[in-house]
Order: sequence, then structure tokens, then C-alpha cells
Amino acid sequence: MIYVVTAIAAIAGLLFGYDEGVIAIALPLLTQEYPMTPVVSGFMTAAVPLGALIGASAAGRLTEQFGRRRVIMVAAAVFAVAAVLAAAMTSISDLVWARLFLGLAIGTAAVAAPLYIAEAAPLETRGALVSTYQLGITFGILASYVAGYTLASGNAWRFMFGLGAVPAVVLLVGLFFMPEAPRWLALKGRLAEAKASILFLRGTGANVDRELEEIDRSALEDAGRKGGYAVLFEPAIRPALVVGMGLFLLQQLSGINAVIYYAPEIFIQAGFTQGETERLATVGVGVVNLLTTILAMYLIDRIGRRRLLVAGFLGTGITMLAIALAVVYSTLIPSWVVIAALLLYIAAFAISLGPLPFVLMSEIFPLRARAEGMSMASISNWGFNFMVVFTFPVLLAGPGLAFTFTIFAIICLSGVLFTLRRVPETTGHSLEAIEAHLASGQPLVKL
Ligand code: BGC
Repeated sequence: MIYVVTAIAAIAGLLFGYDEGVIAIALPLLTQEYPMTPVVSGFMTAAVPLGALIGASAAGRLTEQFGRRRVIMVAAAVFAVAAVLAAAMTSISDLVWARLFLGLAIGTAAVAAPLYIAEAAPLETRGALVSTYQLGITFGILASYVAGYTLASGNAWRFMFGLGAVPAVVLLVGLFFMPEAPRWLALKGRLAEAKASILFLRGTGANVDRELEEIDRSALEDAGRKGGYAVLFEPAIRPALVVGMGLFLLQQLSGINAVIYYAPEIFIQAGFTQGETERLATVGVGVVNLLTTILAMYLIDRIGRRRLLVAGFLGTGITMLAIALAVVYSTLIPSWVVIAALLLYIAAFAISLGPLPFVLMSEIFPLRARAEGMSMASISNWGFNFMVVFTFPVLLAGPGLAFTFTIFAIICLSGVLFTLRRVPETTGHSLEAIEAHLASGQPLVKL
């Protein structure tokens, strides 16, 4: 049943991706009906990342107290209502409020869903299963591109906004039938329920008692110790915080959302004409993103997190540089080179920088501060997402595309060093073994 549980929880990722993509497509249509100043349209777009930042900050405490599953269910309900409100809005201020609530739901679920999956997963396939959340994101982005490509006319934007309510309801109803994650139940001393949950997830043939024993031992060791945010700054745990927040900083400053949000704009700067070509190219970005994420899921538990990360940082860095060069020497270099480099960039991102920060953040923190650590990592995700999306148009208009992409390239390449020096290889270790390593006081990277 772990696959069913994972597939349902990953719908939270779909909501994240759909909402990221849909605003880019809906905005031009919306502005025709409701003329907006750039500040107002910026604020309306920003309402989601802003809400998500608040949601991510609250998610640590909420998932600790109420459980991982229940928090995702409330987030799904809030998302469904807010999606309908966004579709039915009669003024821009209504829409800002609706998007703020959408953001709250997305940010909360972006912590709770990977956490729920990681705590329910067996160690052999944990990487692939948590990556399903990223697969949900890429599926959501592609769905929004396709919706935009086929519907982009008149007030179709109402339909596009409202459509988000459908997966949210599926998520809510689906989770109703699923159990809470066994590790959270053990942390709360509810061992009988934890056992029932493992049995439900693994089936009768599994070694339920041994798994429960390991989880319970770790939970008991944690029970008498301090939990919460303060723990994250203890010398033994701080390296985990650096990895969790650092990987999301690098993920966002790799420029991914400059590409996801502004792909059409980039194609125009590279010399393509507006219209069909550019929209198809955008759908191309969405398809490559989705397919390579599936490949990543296959590789993650086989060749390991560190190797994939190094390959991804190298790949994104080199392709970003190639795009910058192709733009500078556009008279010499044919424009298909830009398309090829951009698609390769997306592939390099999706095979590593996309899923791995989610996977690692759900593995490296000790149980007593796992939810809080993931909250902090998610704050880094949304904070830097917001920063890139808002500064990119300004950078594009000022120093230009080649300069901006060169900065992104340098940041990607610095990710290689960060990985080698800081990121532990968690493949093949149980969450309890990772925690025991941290507690022993040895450097995290030496796992
Ligand atoms: C990032 C998103 C990004 C997406 C692209 C995710 O891992 O957190 O900000 O848009 O990947 O696939």
C-alpha cells in the first residue's frame, strides 16, 4: 500500500506545480479584463509564495502536534476552497486573498507531504518514493502549460484557477482512507496504531515487529530530549540545517524558476517569434522536466544522492553558460542551440536538483526536530523562489539575459563543492541509522 499512499500524498506536489505554472498563463488574460499596474500584478503573483512562506513556517509545529496526514488533509481543503474562490473572484483584491490562502496550503503541504512519505517509506525505495512529490510538481507544471496552451482565450482563466480544486478534493478524500505515518505515531507513544500502520503499508509478509522496534527505540531515545527549533542549532545538528537550507538555496538560485516562469520570454530574447513555436517550446520544457524526473526516481536509490547531485550541478552550470554564450554570439550560433541547451538544462535539473533537496531534507534531521528542520528548509525554498521570480524581470531589463544566466551558472557550479564538502550519502541507510550517526557526533558528511 505504500505506493498508493505515496501517489495520493504526491498530489500535494501537483497542486504546487499547477499553481506555479498557471499564473504565468492566466496573467495576460486577467490583465485584459482587470487592468493592473505592475505593482498590483506583482503583488497578486507574489501572494502565493508569500502565503507559502507563512505556511512553511507554521508546518513544523502543526505536523508535530496534529500529525503529518491530518495537516495535509486540512491544507487540501483550504486549497480546494481557495481555488474556487479564485475562479469566482470579482475583484483583484479577492484574488489576492484567494492566492494567499492557496499559498498557505501549498507551503504547509510542501513540508507535510514529503515528511509523510519519508516516514512511511521502507529504506530501499525511500528516495524514489519521496521523489514522487517532485514528480507531482512537474506533472502540475506540465498540466498548467497544457491547460494554457489549449484554453488560453477569453475568461478561460476562471476555469484554469478552478480546475485546481479537483486534485485537492482527490487528495483530501484519498488521505481519509490512509493511515498516519508510523514514525509520528511512535513519537507520540501510540505503538499499537504505529504497528497497524506498518502492517497496512508493508502487508502481512513483512517483518513488522523488527521495523517497529527500530522506530520505537529511536522514538524512545528522543522522548526525553529537547525538541523544536532550538535543537537545529545544536553543534551536532547544525550541519543538517546547513544541508537542508543550502540545497534549496542552490536549487532556487540555479535559475530554475526563471526558466519555468519565463520560458516564452527567454525564447523571444533568443530570437524566436512569439506564438506557436514559443508555446510548444514551453510545453517541451514541461515534458522534459516530467520525463527526466521519472529517470531520477529510477536512479536515486541505485547510484546515490551525492553522485546525482554532482552530475546535476555540473550539467546545469555548463548548460546555463552555453545559453549565455549563445545569446551573446547570437549572430554566429544558430538559435536551435539555445533550445537544446535549455532542454538539457531542464534535464540536468530534473535528474538531481529537483527531487534531491526534498529527499535529503526528509532524511537528515533527527525525529524530534524533523518537522522543524523541514520547515526551515522549505522557508529557504520559498524565500529564494520569491527572490528569483521577482528580480528576474528587472535583471532581464537591466544587465540582460547573458549576464543573469552567467550568475546562475556560477552558482550551479559552486553546488559541486557544496555537495562534496557537506552533503551526506544517505542511500541505503534507515532514518534511524542516519539519526544515530548524527547523535554520535561524527561529521554528517562522513555518513
Ligand atoms: C522547485 C520548484 C520548481 C520545480 C521545477 C521544484 O523542485 O522547488 O521551485 O519550479 O522544481 O520542476
